[in-house]
Amino acid sequence: MIEKYRGDREAGKPVHILGIETSCDETSAAVIKDGTEILSNVISSQVEIHKRFGGVVPEVASRRHVENITLIIEEALEEADLKLSDLSAVAVTYGPGLVGALLVGVAAAKAICFARGIPLIGVHHIAGHIYANRLMTELEFPLLALVVSGGHTELILMKDHGEYQVLGQTRDDAVGEAYDKVARTLDLPYPGGPHIDRLAQEGREEIEFPRAWLEPDSYDFSFSGLKSAVINTLHNARQRGQRLRKEDVAASFQASVIDVLVEKTIRAAREYGVKQILLAGGVAANQGLRETLKQRTESEGFPLVIPPLSLCTDNAAMIAAAGYISYQKGDFAGMDLNGIAGLSLV
Ligand code: KG4
Ligand code: ZN
Repeated sequence: MIEKYRGDREAGKPVHILGIETSCDETSAAVIKDGTEILSNVISSQVEIHKRFGGVVPEVASRRHVENITLIIEEALEEADLKLSDLSAVAVTYGPGLVGALLVGVAAAKAICFARGIPLIGVHHIAGHIYANRLMTELEFPLLALVVSGGHTELILMKDHGEYQVLGQTRDDAVGEAYDKVARTLDLPYPGGPHIDRLAQEGREEIEFPRAWLEPDSYDFSFSGLKSAVINTLHNARQRGQRLRKEDVAASFQASVIDVLVEKTIRAAREYGVKQILLAGGVAANQGLRETLKQRTESEGFPLVIPPLSLCTDNAAMIAAAGYISYQKGDFAGMDLNGIAGLSLV
């Protein structure tokens, strides 16, 4: 394994990393050249399959990954115009996520590394979301990353590549989870985040929902109170025979979420004097959040990096981009790499 690794680096050849992502309901494979250039990024979403259940069914997700993974990897190589023998390493998400789903990607990555004698790299899913930004522009440290997804809400300080300090995180629901639950109460299809985002743009912020600021110096978040407040407001209105406009509920809910996310981000950015603010994770696709963060960071003088929509939701390009940092450090996994559902970032 190490032989091939040294060979590539000494020969000054391009480093081609195959990324694999199967932590939830997207089967994805990508090839990245020298850490930042996307040669391919193939994503097969299972959303249509899980929609009818109102959420991801783990067993169904694992089986679909098994059916898809080989084809998706072949497609990623074909699009990149490369063969397995051109690869320098394979980077794979090994947590956090659904363990059965993670294992499909991990097993595929191991098989390729074993067969080709190339290094295996284990990547934390959130590191991947953060590194989606490096596919846009070079990172400058110290930086602050606001990570918002279906499973995570975190403010992360990075002083160097691959070094993560969690300044704050959610104490209950992740922000994407709150979006999806509120959406379900509004009878919107799964996943609800994009639907609430769309409705919010047509609504008015007429309902005063709570903002969980927590202790004055805390960078933690809490969204379960807000979620309950929205659900209660809807139930109470229904009981009184009153009809609330979905657009106004969505706009008021989204305003509360964005207020807290953006204010805490700006406060942390000031405290740590960061050179960049990054937005990462599936909820980074939210138009309201992107707009508000753009305005606030501009007026505060912090450069903001946001991935394009295609790199916000789960994809393997971001996993390969994060894996490249481990590759440079020679930080490789053994063949005993396992999927870890609750893997922590630090
Ligand atoms: O990062 P991701 O693809 O998967 C996880 O790692 O969790 O994030 C999925 C989450 C879902 O909760 C989805 O509703 C939310 O991201 N999401 C959005 C938007 N697009 C996706 N939430 C709010 N506004 C959006 N436009
Ligand atoms: Zn994700």
